[in-house]
Amino acid sequence: RVIGSIYVRLMPNGQVLVFNDTCTHLGCKVDYQAAEKRFFCPCHQSAFELDGKRQNQTPPRDLDELKAEVKDGVVWVKYQNFRTATAKQEAI
Ligand code: FES
Repeated sequence: RVIGSIYVRLMPNGQVLVFNDTCTHLGCKVDYQAAEKRFFCPCHQSAFELDGKRQNQTPPRDLDELKAEVKDGVVWVKYQNFRTATAKQEAI
């Protein structure tokens, strides 16, 4: 059963950065744009750096990073959804 979707970024030191792919503006799904090296939301043009930081003022906050760790080659993620349209990150 699908409970959500994420982006996982493998860092040079072997750690992973994991983001909920929900736009923090109003909840559309962000796309990864390899050529621009960013995440982009087609709904209202929110853009985010690859570290999740917002690139413009459309989204109220950065992408929501999820807790994750790598154990024996498997990525374990604490999946959560968060309220959109608010500067403060609130789990729902
Ligand atoms: Fe992503 Fe509005 S929902 S920019």
